[in-house]
Amino acid sequence: MQTHAITADLIYEFAADVRAGLTQPKQKELPSKYLYDDVGSGLFEVISLLPEYGLTRADERLLRRHARDIVERLPIPVIVAELGSGSGKKTRWILEALCRRQQTYYCPIEISPAALAMVHRELSDLDSISIVGFEREYLDGLLEVAARRDDHEHLFVLFLGSTIGNFDRPAGTKFLREVRRILQPGDALLLGTDLEKPIPQLIGAYNDPLGITAAFNLNLLSRINRELQGEFDLRQFEHEARFNGEARSVEMHIRSKRKQRVAIPAADLSVEFQEGETIWTESSHKYSRHDVLRMAMMTGFHCEAQWIDDQWPFAENLFIAK
Ligand code: AVJ
Repeated sequence: MQTHAITADLIYEFAADVRAGLTQPKQKELPSKYLYDDVGSGLFEVISLLPEYGLTRADERLLRRHARDIVERLPIPVIVAELGSGSGKKTRWILEALCRRQQTYYCPIEISPAALAMVHRELSDLDSISIVGFEREYLDGLLEVAARRDDHEHLFVLFLGSTIGNFDRPAGTKFLREVRRILQPGDALLLGTDLEKPIPQLIGAYNDPLGITAAFNLNLLSRINRELQGEFDLRQFEHEARFNGEARSVEMHIRSKRKQRVAIPAADLSVEFQEGETIWTESSHKYSRHDVLRMAMMTGFHCEAQWIDDQWPFAENLFIAK
């Protein structure tokens, strides 16, 4: 795995976010985007191979099976922008189908440089493709891609893997509205959404017996140790996955096994934990098909088509900007 220099700006932002999250008076929290450094992105790749975590495979199956059908419904020509490409592996099917009808520009937007490097390795064998990666936050990256398009080109935005689920519902709606504002009428958004399923199955997907999800979660503390000289003893913390029935989300928390105090010098911070106290690190919201239609309606899109996996309830939704 490659290592990358981390710029002072990013470290500063990370320190500020850690400070804000760990000094919350009630529930301590950390933004889930920090789970995805090089180690976290690698662990997520492994999670997607676990039998308990069917989400990524359902996503990929749908894209593979319906790539032609999806591409046929798009305007011509399109520039493809993907928000959070990861390795880009599951995007191959869509790109292959597109490359059959046009020279294709593919712009993965990713905060993980390791993932961006992987995209090039995964996809550069495709004919008629140009890959231009953007190491940016989603909306900043999308604005840049939009600024580079010609008048006759439509944007086709991919937001796969139910990453939308990491936003709470109002924030998800707000985010889609922001995406819509960057788009023009007729532009397309392919949105992947994990659907509701029985609670034990949901919990199992986020609490695998191998402990990969636990490692993925706890890596956030090791990242604080690595980048902010934090002094977390990882053995004094444990992973927890719980279902929030009101939000209809699975929450990941990191629980302190005992009362302890932890110094994080580069965030100018010393944090006290009670026994059993948790840091909330991620939420994964689950949707009904109807939720998705309503989201489209509320954010300036219409839902042109929905494809549902037959093994793991998951939907690929094609939104067209109104
Ligand atoms: C990549 C955000 C969709 O929320 O299911 C997997 C991340 N977290 N296991 C999800 C994740 C714990 C995943 N997303």
